[in-house]
Amino acid sequence: MMRIFNFCAGPATLPLPVLEKAREELLDFNGSGMSVMEISHRSAAFDEVAERSEACLRRLLSIPDDYAVLFLAGGATAQFAHVPLNLATADRPGAYVVNGSWSKKAFAIAQRMGLAHLAASSEASGFKTIPPQADWDVNDSHAYLHYVSNETISGVQFRQPPQVAPTLVSDMSSDILSRPVDVSRFGAIYAGAQKNIGQAGITLLIVRQDLLRDLPADVPDLSSWKAEHQKGSRLNTPPTFAWYIAGLVFEWLEAQGGVERMAELNQHKADTLYRYLDQSGFYLNDIPPGFRSHMNVPFKITDESLHGRFVAAAEAAGLSSLKGHRSVGGMRASIYNAMPIEGIEALIGFMAEFERQSG
Ligand SMILES: Cc1ncc(COP(=O)(O)O)c(C=O)c1O
Repeated sequence: MMRIFNFCAGPATLPLPVLEKAREELLDFNGSGMSVMEISHRSAAFDEVAERSEACLRRLLSIPDDYAVLFLAGGATAQFAHVPLNLATADRPGAYVVNGSWSKKAFAIAQRMGLAHLAASSEASGFKTIPPQADWDVNDSHAYLHYVSNETISGVQFRQPPQVAPTLVSDMSSDILSRPVDVSRFGAIYAGAQKNIGQAGITLLIVRQDLLRDLPADVPDLSSWKAEHQKGSRLNTPPTFAWYIAGLVFEWLEAQGGVERMAELNQHKADTLYRYLDQSGFYLNDIPPGFRSHMNVPFKITDESLHGRFVAAAEAAGLSSLKGHRSVGGMRASIYNAMPIEGIEALIGFMAEFERQSG
């Protein structure tokens, strides 16, 4: 068997023990003689998968009892529309901080629905920073303040949740479970699974229950958080295998020492890579240190004509998917929970050798 280091931004690398456990159980889940993929989402066996995964997630993030945990389809993109639908009204819109491509998309969708207010934007400076909070135009007339805790493409991350009057709503698709978070400060947190939770296809939503409300009759039930909650996230057939994999990832995380331990490891991995980049005159990351992501590290070579050769040579050396997002170019190393420090060391070793050969 050959496993390489996969730096893809998502779908991303998964912990090997999770893949091994899924393989072990693939043909016969829990003595059922069937795989998880083949059992009914309404069976007792799947109830157990759902209950175990939720209980483990609740332990990992210390989710208070008055919060609902939902496992939904549609990706974080569906939540870009479902957040305003479920929480805002035309006279009480959601406020949005736009500091990267994903927050811009979330804002644009809510704006199209007539439910968004722009609190702040760093687009003019190329999304390299987060606008200072003192300059945000937000107050308690807004239904919520939406922000993306980690901008996956530009590699800009909030160190702490903001302190503002309205309840916080955060897209944590690319940094959930990478560090502790005080869930009680949020109205809602959502995250697509394909980075730190598991495989693509399922989206996590953690929402304070008093925010769940009936929606107008012309809104489809699948867009209603309350309707999904009342049906245990099984209003229709959910992505059952993705849900099962999420549960395995949660159990793996707990065995590693939980999110506190992950935060230490992630800090160490990110520090190691940024330190290397900063001492180099050949490579560079131009995000100011206070805003740098611990999950996605974009970088360039000062001679940009070498980018194509770098990505191809890295791929050949078993360092996969380092090409940067098409909107920003260059390279990007995504170093989520499942990326071991050995992957960072291998990447740095390769970068040093590439520089030596290109110099
Ligand atoms: C921060 C963030 N939000 C939203 C999305 C969109 O997620 P999905 O493709 O699951 O809809 C992504 C995808 O990479 C992301 O990184």
